[in-house]
Amino acid sequence: MTELQLHETLPALRTELSALRRNGKTVALVPTMGNLHKGHLSLIAAARAEYDVVVATIFVNPMQFGAKEDLARYPRTFAADLTALRESGCDYLYTPATGEIYPEGLAVHTRVSVPGISSLHCGHSRPGHFDGVCTVVCKLFNMIQMDAAFFGYKDYQQFHLISTMVRDLYLPVRLYGVPTVRENSGLAMSSRNGYLDAQQRTQASALYATLLQTADSIRAGASEFRQLEKAASATLAAAGLQPDYFHICNRNTLQLAEQNESDLIILAAVYAGTTRLIDNIFVQAAS
Ligand code: PAF
Repeated sequence: MTELQLHETLPALRTELSALRRNGKTVALVPTMGNLHKGHLSLIAAARAEYDVVVATIFVNPMQFGAKEDLARYPRTFAADLTALRESGCDYLYTPATGEIYPEGLAVHTRVSVPGISSLHCGHSRPGHFDGVCTVVCKLFNMIQMDAAFFGYKDYQQFHLISTMVRDLYLPVRLYGVPTVRENSGLAMSSRNGYLDAQQRTQASALYATLLQTADSIRAGASEFRQLEKAASATLAAAGLQPDYFHICNRNTLQLAEQNESDLIILAAVYAGTTRLIDNIFVQAAS
């Protein structure tokens, strides 16, 4: 176990990190909202493997939740998170209060917005969500001043938007995307899986199974993407899930893919009861 140092406020953390960087140490950031699972720990492990110092943050960011979403009931499991971070070899944990991130409140805080893709897919169902994500991530980057930051591919649209923000604003950070960690059933690890009852958990495994099936059809030559999306949504509904969207996209632009495109990602979201789950799969179409 490492000596995990906790910081609830920024100044002392920043002084320590800048001294380390002046002494030639490299620093990686893993931003989280807590309730850590194996997916988060794979980000810490990936950061640990490449960088001298690993900083995790836990901040349940109110700006990325809609008025009717689960901000109040979002799982907060601080004691277990601390143990997991200690075991994973994380060096620093920053847990700012909402007042440190938004001192004068959310309404008057500067926002960072990546137009276009922010309102597609998850952004269509969760208006304003990605502005909240980009704002807090940009702010954390500026606060921590790290060399690199690690994000999970499960939230691929988020990863794509953060990459766009970093490119557009010339933010001095190297981004890493880390593959999704799954339960034995194929269900992608997510803090929201904790909301599922036993039946919903079984139903939820249909999401990845349907992504795999559709990816196989594309690899085998199926190219009527809109038809495949409809068939997949019907399969999800038959499994007891409520499809939110199932989109076969160009992997680089995240726009809906046309028949002649081959570098693809399928992005999908479903409801299992009231719990919203997302997942995705990369697929190279037959040429
Ligand atoms: O993916 C998450 O957990 C959050 O969206 C992030 C990146 C920590 C920003 O609040």
